[in-house]
Amino acid sequence: MNIGGTLIAGPAKGALKGHITVPGDKSMSHRSIMLGALAEGTTKIEGFLPGDDNFATAAMFEAMGAKVTWLNGEKTSLTVEGVGLYGLKEPENVLDAGNSGTAARLITGILAGQNFHSVMVGDASLHSRPMSRVADPVRVMGAKVDGREGGNKMPLSIRGGKLKGIDFQSPVASAQVKSCVLLAGLFADGETTVTEPKATRDHTERMLPLFGQAVDRVDALTCRLKPAGKLVAPKDVVQIPADPSSATFFAVAASLVEGSDVVLNSIGINPRRDGWRRVMADMQADLTLEAKNKVGAEPVADIRVKATSLQGMKVNPQDIPDAIDEFPVLFVAAALSEGTFILDEAEELRVKESDRIATMAEALKACGANIEEKEDGAIIQGKSSLQGGGTVDAHGDHRIAMAMAVAAQKMDREIRIENAAAIATSFPSFVDLAQSIGMNVRWEAS
Ligand code: S3P
Repeated sequence: MNIGGTLIAGPAKGALKGHITVPGDKSMSHRSIMLGALAEGTTKIEGFLPGDDNFATAAMFEAMGAKVTWLNGEKTSLTVEGVGLYGLKEPENVLDAGNSGTAARLITGILAGQNFHSVMVGDASLHSRPMSRVADPVRVMGAKVDGREGGNKMPLSIRGGKLKGIDFQSPVASAQVKSCVLLAGLFADGETTVTEPKATRDHTERMLPLFGQAVDRVDALTCRLKPAGKLVAPKDVVQIPADPSSATFFAVAASLVEGSDVVLNSIGINPRRDGWRRVMADMQADLTLEAKNKVGAEPVADIRVKATSLQGMKVNPQDIPDAIDEFPVLFVAAALSEGTFILDEAEELRVKESDRIATMAEALKACGANIEEKEDGAIIQGKSSLQGGGTVDAHGDHRIAMAMAVAAQKMDREIRIENAAAIATSFPSFVDLAQSIGMNVRWEAS
């Protein structure tokens, strides 16, 4: 996919130093808008991620009648005037989820419960991603969903209606699928139960109770929702903690660049998002937790990262969903470690914003890394440095672009990273924050 935007990155001119506050969590920002829109009353949100993915979610709910008011110029603080569970109106035009799989899949669950017709589109990347994983369960619940390839590809057409609760055994470890079914369950007659093959991020389960809707945890893999019949805007501000997925880029950069010492302020350490830290700890990274605290329903801590020599390892498959978005930059850590890094059972990486096994293998190989692609993962032999001077293609995938900017810090010359504009979907301030700790990265002047 060619969507423009070129980064020039690396090598680092010296040790990376400083304290850094990354923006709000993308997953929670989406959910805060969705639940706020469906609640009775006005929800106040702080720490919102001002990324294009989250703006897409906000715009879709505005098109269905919720009112979003930005309270500051940075668009990190806002109110959502909800319309109540049954107050959304039929959108006059197609809904556009942009690049966001989370928006598309979670909103499918909400649209399934509406007494109207809607069509949801996205960009070329989103149109290539599988949707039957959410279309199938909401059809069983009673919605009519269609799309290209029998409903597996967007644009999706959804005619919602009366839903019935289901006991859903998800074939895929996906928080998007779990959340879609739980959100549809808000509109269903009877209970909805979701069982996953591996535990995934639980932000939906943690945030729904703030809106008065309990979610029972039956066991580590199963949760159950008995619809309360309404959501109510919380009295307290919904606070969104800093996104661990954004923090990982700097954690890897600081681990790799000699002499670095960086503190990542107040990062979400929910165990279901903390897989990156477990993987890096197994790689012998020097990570220390300081100032543990809570932000809303989520645990946070300052994370101090000092440079050290990283070691190869085999990733525990149980950690994969908990680090699912961090593998592009963990591949960079592996390519610059000592020994062999082995990842398998990670075929989900092939259906992210790009095929992340293929796009990372292509980009890292172009810089001389030793990476062997496998159908469900990769084997990476570490090296002490990579070779710059060339051009790599981020394929319109934000995390590939940022991961390669980190890799470039350990190259002999700078690289060009093309099709990197999608960084704006999840981390628009990436370049500014990277520069603030001394990373060598800039946008190419157009
Ligand atoms: C997300 C879940 C993950 C993740 C995505 C955000 C969420 O997807 O990759 O960036 O907010 O629920 P899957 O659950 O489909 O793996």
